[in-house]
Parts: sequence; C-alpha cells; structure tokens
Amino acid sequence: MKKLVIYGEKKLQGEQIVQGSKNACLPIIVATILTKGENVLYRCPHLNDTISACKILTMLGCSTKINTDCLIINTKNMYGNEISKYLMNKMRSSIIFLGAMLARCGEAVVYYPGGCNIGSRPIDFHIKALKKMGVHIKKNGEKLYCKLKNSKIKGAKIQLPFPSVGATENVILAAATATGTTTIENAAIEPEIEDLCAYLNRCGAKIKILKNNLNIITIEGVEKLNSCEYTIMPDRIVAATIFSAVAATAGEVLLKSVDEKHLTHILNILNQMGCKIKKYNKNNIYLKSNEHLKAVDHIRTLPHPGFPTDLQPIVMALSCIANGTTVFIETIFENRFRHVPELKKFGAIIEVKDKIAVTKGTPSLTAANVYATDLRGGAALIVAALKAKGISKIYNLQYIDRGYENVEGQFFKLGADIFRK
Ligand code: EPZ
Repeated sequence: MKKLVIYGEKKLQGEQIVQGSKNACLPIIVATILTKGENVLYRCPHLNDTISACKILTMLGCSTKINTDCLIINTKNMYGNEISKYLMNKMRSSIIFLGAMLARCGEAVVYYPGGCNIGSRPIDFHIKALKKMGVHIKKNGEKLYCKLKNSKIKGAKIQLPFPSVGATENVILAAATATGTTTIENAAIEPEIEDLCAYLNRCGAKIKILKNNLNIITIEGVEKLNSCEYTIMPDRIVAATIFSAVAATAGEVLLKSVDEKHLTHILNILNQMGCKIKKYNKNNIYLKSNEHLKAVDHIRTLPHPGFPTDLQPIVMALSCIANGTTVFIETIFENRFRHVPELKKFGAIIEVKDKIAVTKGTPSLTAANVYATDLRGGAALIVAALKAKGISKIYNLQYIDRGYENVEGQFFKLGADIFRK
C-alpha cells in the first residue's frame, strides 16, 4: 500500500501557485453537458475525482482531453443517459450529473453516489426538488430511473430545508435550460456555486445570486447554451492547507493565484494565532509564522459565509500545537471527527463529545503511522506530520488524492521532506 513518508520538524518556506478548486471544477465539468460543444477549462486540477468525472463523460459519449494547462471537453455527440454503479460510487459529485442529463436527454439512470464517509449524506433534497421540476423518479434499490413528464424541465420554486451545496448545483443544472424561471430559496452560496453560475452565465445562462437573508438564486431558463473557455477558481481549502502547514512549521510562504475574498476565515484565524499576513494584492498573500501559536477560542462550522466544514480538520491539527484550548462545533456533517483518533497518535490532546471536539495545545507532536479517513482529515494528518518530531507514515492516500494535486510535490517544493513510497 502506497504511503506518504514525512520527516517532520522542517520549516516550510517558499512560493506556491495554488491549484484549481476540485469542488468548483466538478460541477463545471458536468455543466459542459448542457452546451453541446467544445469547452476549454483552465486551472482544472489533475485529481482522481476529475478523472472519474471525465470517465463518466466518456461513458455518455462525450470526448475529453487532459492537457498540462487545460481540460478540453466536447459534449456535442453525447448519446448516453446511464451512469454505471461503479462510477457513481467513485465520488459524491456523480449525483450532479442527474440534473444536467435530464436537461439534455429528458431521462437518466443513476445510482446513489459515493464520496467521503463524513456522514449519512442523503440525496432527498435533490430528489424532491427535481420532482417539483417535473421529473418522474422511480427507485429500485440503489438505482434511480428518472424521466421528464413533459418534453422539458419546468421552472419551479424550490425551498431547500438546508443550503445543500450538491442540491443547489443539481437544481441550477436542471434549471439553466428549463422552461420558465426557477428560484431556489435557502440556496447554498459557496464560492464554488458562484463559479458554476459564472461559467454558465458565460455560456449564455441567466442566473442571479441574491445574497440576502434568504440566499435566493434565480435561474431564468434559456433555449440553449454555448460552449466557452473558462478558468476555474483557485482552491480555497488547498490554500488554507498550505497556510496551515506553513504556520505549523514556523515557516513563511507566498501563495500566488489565490482569491483573498475566499480566505477570510483562515486568514482571520491565522492572524489571531499570531501569524503575520501581508496581502500584496487580492491574489498574492504572504504569511510568516512563529514558534508560538496562540489557540483561538472556538470554531463553529456553518454554510457559507460561515466557517467551512472542510477547514475544520485542518485547523484542528493546527490547534493541537497552539497554546491554549479550542472548542470545535461541527454542525454540517455528523461524522466529521474521524481524524481525531489519528491525530491523537501524534500525541495531540483532543476530547470529543457528539458534535463538539476540544483541543488542548501541546508544544510538540511525535511522529506516528496514521490512516487518512477522508480527504480533509487526511490533509490534517499531513499538517500534523510536518510538525511532528521523527518520521511519520500516512496511509490511505486515495482519499488525499481526491483533492490535492501531487500533494507530496506541493510540500516538497516548500522544503518538506515528504515522499510517496
Ligand atoms: C459539498 O458536499 C462538498 N463536496 C463537500 O466537500 C463539503 O464539505 C460540503 O459541500 C459542505 O460545504 C463537493 O462539492 C463535491 P451538502 P455536499 O449537500 O454537496 C445534508 C470535500 O472535502 N443533506 O451541502 O455533499 C447533508 O447530509 C467535500 O471536498 C441532506 O440532508 O454537501 C449535510 O448534513 C467533503 N439531504 C448537509 O446537508 C440532501 O439531499 C450539507 O451537505 C443533501 C444534503
């Protein structure tokens, strides 16, 4: 089994260009289905999940070509409308194909999606919303047979019980070329959703995001969408992971090609912990850490614009070496503390009760052999291992590879002694 071998206690230093966002590029790859033409996506990260999305497109009859600087997708000759159980199980975003396939083909056969095991992750909001838009859905075990009642999807008023990222994306994809206007109330308004809407609007869609108390997205259906060239947003969680690793090792880094407005939470926290931050401009941010980090009091995960759940494990790793106590309250996923037993193997002091975890910082960690339990939990283990005294080994790299492009290369470039063996 391949593992990351990390020789800890090395200060990270240097410059890094941040990769494109996984959670933005996946729905945009799916959205190309609606355009019936050739799309060129720049800053598309090379990840297991992007490869899985391309495999699904190929299965549907589309062509994909991965170049060093872009992904080219041609959806003109798409003919399929069924995704295999194997590919559906590869990742969570496979379910987003449903809205797009229904809009393009009028019918679709899919299975329940896979993805990181961080909670039960049902798809009831997706199903309920699509039904309201005129889709007939028949379930047979894990298999879903979906078909439009009329020739086109019809716009509808959707009220999401919770601002689900995936459900919001599915509705947007279904609605972009529907008849009439769709409104999503209590929509997710994460930056990755904004990126999807920006891509679709460039293709000719009419989507507006109203960021008021209700977080409403309106989608006025258009007859057709054109293909386009688009640059995916930088990955805010990867940027935060690099900043956290640098902070843990008392290093310094200049991150390039980031978007400052997506990094408010992590920069506030690192600032409170005692790191110096200099914003050269909104795309280039420098961070310098010191040996003595101060713990922040508490962190509560919330839908955007609140603190992102994807950052919780990574900031937790950092809190384990900061002076003081931090209380983490996880409100999005019920099973998102699976990294805790692994972090404890480094000597971290953490107590968990239901959705609350409390860390008590210790000045040093010792190397350990640990197992990634999910993507961001795996990233947290890298942060801890880079700080820990001795040689750590991290197993289950398939999780980390879902979201971090050449993860060992990224940290090696900053001076870490990190190898995949
Ligand atoms: C997306 O997952 C991201 N994944 C996750 O990132 C991220 O943690 C999450 O949004 C929250 O920000 C992708 O974009 C591919 P949700 P998603 O639907 O869409 C409940 C990572 O590490 N819910 O917003 O699956 C659900 O159980 C990944 O990159 C329902 O009850 O998340 C959860 O408690 C992990 N019914 C909450 O809503 C539904 O039909 C939020 O889930 C849908 C969701």
